[in-house]
Amino acid sequence: MKYEKLFSKGRIGKLELKNRVVMPAMGTSLAGSNGEASSDIIKYYEERAKGGCGLIITEITRIDEEFGVGVANQLSATAPKHIASFQKLARTLHKYDTKVFVQLHHPGREGHGNLIGGKQIVAPSPIMCKVTKEMPRELTTEEVEGLVKKFITGAKIAQMGGIDGVELHGAHGYLINQFLSPYTNKRTDKYGGHFMNRMRFISEIIVGIKHICGPDFPISVRIDGDEFVEGGIDLKEAVKIARYLESLGVDVLNVSCGTYETSMTIIEPMSYPQGWKKHLAQTIKQAVAIPVIAVNVIRKPDFAEGLLQDGVVDFVGVGRGQLADSAWSKKAIEGMEEEIKPCISCLHCIEELGKGGVLKCAVNPMMGRELEFNHLQKDGADRTVVIIGAGPAGLEAARVLALRGFKPIVLERENELGGALQLANKPFLKDKIDWLINYYENQIRTLNIDIRFGTKATIDNIKDLNPYAIFAATGSKPIVPPIEGIQSEKVCVAEDILKGDIAPEGESIAVIGSGMTGCETAEMLAMKGNKVSIVEMRKEIGMDVYKINLFDLLKRLKEHKVEMLPSKQLLKVIEDGIVLMDTFTTMKTVKSVDRVVLALGVQPNREIIPALEQEFKHVHVMGDVMAPGRIADAIRQGFEKAYILE
Ligand SMILES: Cc1cc2nc3c(=O)[nH]c(=O)nc-3n(C[C@H](O)[C@H](O)[C@H](O)COP(=O)(O)O)c2cc1C
Ligand code: SF4
Repeated sequence: MKYEKLFSKGRIGKLELKNRVVMPAMGTSLAGSNGEASSDIIKYYEERAKGGCGLIITEITRIDEEFGVGVANQLSATAPKHIASFQKLARTLHKYDTKVFVQLHHPGREGHGNLIGGKQIVAPSPIMCKVTKEMPRELTTEEVEGLVKKFITGAKIAQMGGIDGVELHGAHGYLINQFLSPYTNKRTDKYGGHFMNRMRFISEIIVGIKHICGPDFPISVRIDGDEFVEGGIDLKEAVKIARYLESLGVDVLNVSCGTYETSMTIIEPMSYPQGWKKHLAQTIKQAVAIPVIAVNVIRKPDFAEGLLQDGVVDFVGVGRGQLADSAWSKKAIEGMEEEIKPCISCLHCIEELGKGGVLKCAVNPMMGRELEFNHLQKDGADRTVVIIGAGPAGLEAARVLALRGFKPIVLERENELGGALQLANKPFLKDKIDWLINYYENQIRTLNIDIRFGTKATIDNIKDLNPYAIFAATGSKPIVPPIEGIQSEKVCVAEDILKGDIAPEGESIAVIGSGMTGCETAEMLAMKGNKVSIVEMRKEIGMDVYKINLFDLLKRLKEHKVEMLPSKQLLKVIEDGIVLMDTFTTMKTVKSVDRVVLALGVQPNREIIPALEQEFKHVHVMGDVMAPGRIADAIRQGFEKAYILE
């Protein structure tokens, strides 16, 4: 077999796993309001089991109803009533010979008062997390002892529910991690101070679980190989912790890294390549004899196989890869790697969860909605559907329509597919977008979809195709504000730079607008030796960019010495530069620049829509035309419209 190691059996304690693919814990907000495994969450996990995963670790699961709420609608292991729902989950996953662990969790100082009825959050020490910005109250010694019991009870509930093992969440800056780390544990009682005292909380939990659940009930501990915070756990300390946990009888270590304060390293944005943190897992694996699981931005089966072959890990954690494609393992086993829908590390999933919504995936609209989309009607009967535009919405629609037995014909005025993806892939470190383009290219080929490049859609050429329905995914065009001097030769749009139609070097350039496109275009320009300023009307740069993506970008923009000019409105373009107005003081200044690049967003390209609606009966408008939007919206609309077409 091609992936000999990846699909070889593995062992955690006495538990045998059918392969080395682990789905690490990922919060979903899909559980029932009382913490039970809802039909939605069971179906979501079932799809990953059906897709061939060897071990699924559930999302963060609550062990304390009072202060331990991690997200809304979260799995709980706090009461006997949760046993039955775990039984249902375990039975479902076991049908596919997939094992399941429950991840026991408490957020500690990374919690939110609004999730626990406005109470003050709790932690080992009253040290505020710089991200959540809520001051925790220090737990009393008795409360800590109580929490030890709650973790043990959680494990027993999981075991009684037929769950194969538990994972203690000792990473990502959550409560257990807070006890382990000298950065967050400044206690003076038996749970703080020197190494052994900082280990006491987790030690008592482990000893208790072994005692109550028996020595053969597997325990995994998720640890940070590095917190990446000054004064926190570094790799050397992590090795010490790993060895100590092994001595306590822990069966497997799941190595991750980072805390909320370094969250870019936990759930990495697009710029992080596969394997960037493999030194953490490898060093820990070399220090212990028990198996090691680790995530590592693992997206491709051959990369996963390499990590196993090189002895970096014993099990690969494929998180987002299995959100984007539930059949990640199955497709790899069957040699259909090119059919794996790739996770592009866009962070839409965690962004949505952070907003209090349910987990969603930008490239996989079915994710978390498996019950809703559980039956694809194959009733297309070869009816022709003309799709205008081979951007993400059009391509996704074409894919689903073809699977349904329709005959999609895609008209694309450019000579390549991808639409907006062909701009999104141009900035620095955005090559994961190419994975998505390649995926669709492959789907077009495999499903034998008729795609006509260099073809501008007109009413006449559409009529010639005699379509049953039309999907208009005609994209968007850049916004150019009607201000004085905007027609000047020195003004262009970000698209011109991204496409390479204009390639300035050594110039002084103002990029107007600090959305994702503005910031990325500024970076591209700065890397070409231009002196770049970003002008933003609002009070902060990148206010609409998801915070982890923004941190990542700002860090690099700083390295390239890009000047940030928030609260500045572009009033006019003049011969020597631009006139800006401070939005607070209304003071006007002239900034001398050679070039102005507009990155002010896009507006729908609706030119052909009214005529289409007049001429044809079934016209479905989607993608950027509906609301200039992101890849996630485009793919979702394409998918849904194609799924429900009658
Ligand atoms: C939406 C989302 C929710 C997550 N929730 C958890 C969680 O509940 N517990 C946990 O240990 N890690 C959580 N993580 C981190 C993942 O387990 C994993 O370490 C991370 O996504 C990096 O691996 P990947 O690149 O394979 O996705 C979450 C990640 C995502 C994307
Ligand atoms: S939303 Fe983006 S980062 Fe999250 S799983 Fe999907 S593609 Fe990956």
